[in-house]
Amino acid sequence: MKEIGVRYRTESSRKTVGLGRKLGQLLHGGDLIVLTGELGCGKTWFTKGIALGLGITEVVTSPSFALMNAYEGVKTLFHMDVYRLEAAEDFLDTGLDECFDGEGVVVMEWGDKWPEILPARRLNVAFKIVGEQSRELVMTGEHPRMVEVLAALDQDV
Ligand SMILES: Nc1ncnc2c1ncn2[C@@H]1O[C@H](COP(=O)(O)OP(=O)(O)OP(=O)(O)O)[C@@H](O)[C@H]1O
Ligand SMILES: [Mg+2]
Repeated sequence: MKEIGVRYRTESSRKTVGLGRKLGQLLHGGDLIVLTGELGCGKTWFTKGIALGLGITEVVTSPSFALMNAYEGVKTLFHMDVYRLEAAEDFLDTGLDECFDGEGVVVMEWGDKWPEILPARRLNVAFKIVGEQSRELVMTGEHPRMVEVLAALDQDV
């Protein structure tokens, strides 16, 4: 299927959380969301929103040091930050790829390093800092499931 892309702009971190929440409401176990963009662009804030959309009440914080935090909601959220890992083997050595087993939703910050080892069913969200409080988010996906998610999100926003 052809890749589709949708562009959003948020003017505050609260708006980024709100957009993440809407995406989170649409997600199923086995969906992978890859977040890319420079330090401080809003990847973790967006994940806070995804967690809210999944019915998670616990506060989501950056997993940079733990590599992965798991949260229980209507569905489990596995929130990874692989900034510190270099090679695909380093990631596979951690065993975190077991999170791709279909039970939970996986969000991976800096997850574009090794696309070859990631499931095809994934949505990419590329963040750009366009102002002190503004962020541009470009969401792309080519898997039919993610094309469906992007279309549903676009109806809702
Ligand atoms: N529109 C916006 N959306 C998201 N965050 C924003 C926005 N405007 C300002 N911010 C600020 O930008 C910062 C985003 O931090 P966040 O931890 O989400 O970044 P990150 O991409 O996860 O960084 P890292 O790569 O270090 O993990 C926060 O301090 C937040 O308040
Ligand atoms: Mg972060």
